[in-house]
Amino acid sequence: MRDFSWYKGRKVLLTGHTGFKGTWLARMLVNSGAVVLGYSLNPPTDPALFDMAGLEGKMTSVIGDIRDYDKLLKTFTDFEPEIVFHLAAQPIVRDSYKDPRYTYETNVMGTVNLLECVRATDSVKSVLNVTTDKVYLNEEREEGYREDEMLDGYDPYSNSKSCSELVTHSYKRSFFDPMLANGDRFITVSTARAGNVIGGGDFANDRIIPDSVRAAAAGKKLEVRNPYSVRPYQHVLEPLAIYMTIAMEQELDPKYQDYYNVGPDDCDCVTTGTLADMFCEAWGDGFAWENKSEANAPHEAGFLRLNCDKIKKTFGWQPTWHIKEGIGKTVEFSKVWLAGGDIPAEMDRQIGEYLSQLKF
Ligand SMILES: NC(=O)c1ccc[n+]([C@@H]2O[C@H](COP(=O)([O-])OP(=O)(O)OC[C@H]3O[C@@H](n4cnc5c(N)ncnc54)[C@H](O)[C@@H]3O)[C@@H](O)[C@H]2O)c1
Repeated sequence: MRDFSWYKGRKVLLTGHTGFKGTWLARMLVNSGAVVLGYSLNPPTDPALFDMAGLEGKMTSVIGDIRDYDKLLKTFTDFEPEIVFHLAAQPIVRDSYKDPRYTYETNVMGTVNLLECVRATDSVKSVLNVTTDKVYLNEEREEGYREDEMLDGYDPYSNSKSCSELVTHSYKRSFFDPMLANGDRFITVSTARAGNVIGGGDFANDRIIPDSVRAAAAGKKLEVRNPYSVRPYQHVLEPLAIYMTIAMEQELDPKYQDYYNVGPDDCDCVTTGTLADMFCEAWGDGFAWENKSEANAPHEAGFLRLNCDKIKKTFGWQPTWHIKEGIGKTVEFSKVWLAGGDIPAEMDRQIGEYLSQLKF
C-alpha cells in the first residue's frame, strides 16, 4: 500500500479546494498531515461539500479568482508552498457553450497565472495540473487514446483544457528545466487527464449522479437525457490517490514527471442508462428513472476511451473501487447527508476504507 505520510508537515497549495474533487483532496491531504492552503472562488454549488467537510481550522482557505494574478502571487509568496495541485477551473461543458470567454480566461489564463506564480516562488518543487480525458481530438474511435496523441478538445471546456495542457508543456520546457534554454530552476511538473468522477457530495448541475440524488431525495423519477451514450466512470478517490502519488513520486525522482491518462477499466465504461439502473438498485425504495432524450441538446462528444498503460506501468496503478462500489459509496454518503449525519466522519470513513484497500 502506498504511504501518504510523506505529506506530513509538507506545505501544499491546492487550487479549486471549494469544489467537489478539491474538497475530497483537501480532506485526504489534511488527514495525511499536510499543511494545506486552498485558493479558489466560493463553492460553486449550494449546498456544497466544502461547507460540510469540517475543514475549517484544519487548513487555510483563501477565496480568490485564479484570474487575479496579483492576489494569487501574494498567496504563493506568503505561504511558500512546496507542492501545488491545480484543480480550479470552469469544468462544465454546457456552461462553456454559454460563456466560452470566461471558460478560456479561467482555464487557460488561470493556468498561465498559476505557473507564473510557481516560477516566482523558490519553495515549489512539485506541480500537478489536473486536466481531463476530453483534451484529445476525439475521432470517435474504439481504441484508447495515448498521451502523445493530438490535443484538440471539441467544445470550449474541453478545448480550454487542451490549451491548459499545452501551456504546461511550454512552461515545463521553457522555465522548469535548467538544462534547457531559459530554464530558471528545476521544478517537477506533470499533468493528469482523468475522466468523469462520481462520489458523495457532488451537487453540480448537469451531472448524472447529482441529478440522481436530487431526484431520489425529492421522491421523483430520475430523468435521463442521453441513456445510450457510453461514458467512463471512476469514484472520486481513484484519481485523487493517483494525483497524490504523482506529486510525491516526481519530487522524490524527477523521472516520474510526465503526462498521464487516469481512466477506469473497460468494465467501468457504461451507458448512462446502465449507470442509472445501478444507482436505482443501490438506492432501493423503488427509485426509478425515465428516458428524457433531448432533440436539440448542444453537441457532446461521443465516448472517448483512454489508454492507461503508462500510469499502470509506471506506478502499478489499477482501480481499487469499480463502478458498483463507487455507486454504493455515493449512495451511502448521500443517505448520511439526507439524514443530517456527520459528513466529516463519513468522508474519513470512506477515505480510510479506500486507502486500506488501495491496489497499487
Ligand atoms: N468532476 C469530474 O468528473 C471531472 C472530470 C475530469 C476532470 N475534472 C477536473 O477536475 C477539476 C475539479 O473539478 P470539480 O468536479 O471538482 O469541479 P467543481 O466545479 O466542483 O470545482 C471547481 C473549483 O474551481 C474553482 N473555480 C472555478 N472558477 C474559478 C476561478 N475563476 N478562480 C478560482 N477558482 C475557480 C471553484 O471555486 C471550485 O473550487 C477541474 O479542473 C475539472 O476540469 C473533473
